[in-house]
Amino acid sequence: MNGHWDKRYSETEGVYGKKPNPFWAQELEHCEGKTALLPCEGEGRNALWAAQRGWHVDAFDSSSVGMATCRRWCEEASVEQLVKTHISDAMNFRGNESGYDVVGLFYAHTPHSIRQQFHRRAVTWLKPGGKLILEGFNTNQLGLSSGGPKDRSMLFSIDQLQNDFKGLKVEQLETIQVVLNEGPFHQGNAEIIRMIGSLSKD
Ligand SMILES: C[S@@+](CC[C@H](N)C(=O)[O-])C[C@H]1O[C@@H](n2cnc3c(N)ncnc32)[C@H](O)[C@@H]1O
Repeated sequence: MNGHWDKRYSETEGVYGKKPNPFWAQELEHCEGKTALLPCEGEGRNALWAAQRGWHVDAFDSSSVGMATCRRWCEEASVEQLVKTHISDAMNFRGNESGYDVVGLFYAHTPHSIRQQFHRRAVTWLKPGGKLILEGFNTNQLGLSSGGPKDRSMLFSIDQLQNDFKGLKVEQLETIQVVLNEGPFHQGNAEIIRMIGSLSKD
């Protein structure tokens, strides 16, 4: 059992809502291909959305409760054929052999000690020409009550992401202030960071 997250997902369904993250919904429209990977996908709001648009999705999370909810949401929407869920730690997940057209990292904050290694692994899951889409909290989120880790070293900065993802061509990388409205645990004024990067075709 992954204590903290299993407990949270057991106590509340739709911790971050059942609707997709708005940046994911917006950007997936512009992505080419048919395969998507969603690491640290929790209860599967973004996997569900992608599958409902015909994407073949792999989703993983270390929380078995989160992944069970993801499977159930996909079954209820009759898209379970398009979604494979995996209970896996980010540092062990292997992914398919050919890679994915899109990898979506949403609020996938890990301890500082593994963050860079995890981000570099995420790049290896892309196909040549594939796109990585990321949204998370930036370091100014500390002190705000709209969600996220309370440990500053788990929050993101532009310099950090530029370095972590230097294998990608960065198309967008910015910090912005938004009002989050994503389930009971992401509510209110927030300091976030968004990134889109693509892997070269050769
Ligand atoms: C804030 S939630 C975000 C869930 C989902 N991406 C979303 O936006 O709805 C963070 C998730 O990351 C997962 N997670 C954190 N560290 C992980 C790791 N090392 N391996 C796999 N999952 C991890 C947690 O179990 C949790 O479900």
